[in-house]
Amino acid sequence: MSVEHIDKLADVLLAINKGEVSEEEAGRVLGGISEVELSLAEQRLLERGVKPEELRGLCAVHLQVLNKEVEDLKKKTGPGHPLYTLVSEHDRILGFLETLDKAAKLVLSRPAYAESDHQLRAALDDIKNVAYHLVETEKHHAREEEALFPAMEAKGITGPTRIMRLEHDDLRPRKKALYELISRARIEDFEEFKKTLSEIVSYIGFNLRDHIFKENTILYPAAYKAIVEPETWDEIKARSDEIGYCCFTPGHEVA
Ligand SMILES: [Fe+2]
Ligand SMILES: [Fe+2]
Repeated sequence: MSVEHIDKLADVLLAINKGEVSEEEAGRVLGGISEVELSLAEQRLLERGVKPEELRGLCAVHLQVLNKEVEDLKKKTGPGHPLYTLVSEHDRILGFLETLDKAAKLVLSRPAYAESDHQLRAALDDIKNVAYHLVETEKHHAREEEALFPAMEAKGITGPTRIMRLEHDDLRPRKKALYELISRARIEDFEEFKKTLSEIVSYIGFNLRDHIFKENTILYPAAYKAIVEPETWDEIKARSDEIGYCCFTPGHEVA
C-alpha cells in the first residue's frame, strides 16, 4: 500500500464527505476499498488537520457499506473471539441507550416529582439500572485500550486508536455523573434535576452511539484485517480474560 495511494484515497474521502461526489460513484469507491485503507486514509486526513467531527459527516452510502461490515465481522469471527465479544457488548450498550432515552423522556415530561407517580418511579429505576451498566462499560474500554489497541498500534494504526482513547476519557466522567445524579437519595429540586439529566443523557446518547459506530465500522474491521497472526489474537484474548468482562457481556452475565 503506497503513500500516494493512501493520499489519493484521502482526497476522494474528503470529496465524498463534502458531498462533491455522486452517491453512485461514492458507493463504487467505498465498496472497493478495504477497512485498513479506509482507516489509514482517515488517519491521513486527521494528520492534514481535518477535525475528527468533520469525519463524522459520512454519507448515506458510506453508512450502508459500513453497517454491512459489522455483520460480516460477526460472521467471520464468531463467539469467543475478542472482536465478537466487543461487538456483542456494543449491541447491549445500544439497547441500554434506547432504554435511557425512553425513560428520560418520561421523566422530562413530568411537571413535578410525586411519590405516587409509579411510571415516573419506574423510569427513574430504569435510568439507575442503565447508569450502573454504563459505568460497567469501563471494563469494555479497558479491554480495548490495553488488549486490542496496542496490537493495532504495533501494526501502524495509531490515529484512530488515539481518538478512541480520547473519547473514552471524555465519556468516563459523564457516565459517572449520570450514576451519581440518579443515585442521590432524594431529588431536592426537580427542575434542576431534569435540566442536568437532559444534558447528560443527550451528550452520552449522541457521543457513545457515535463512538460505537466508529469502532464497529472502522476500527474493528481494520483490526481484523491488520492482525493476521492467530497467536496475536490469542494474546489479545488472554489479556482480555485477565482484565475481565462486564456484568452484561453475552456469555459472561452475572446473575
Ligand atoms: Fe471504545
Ligand atoms: Fe467499544
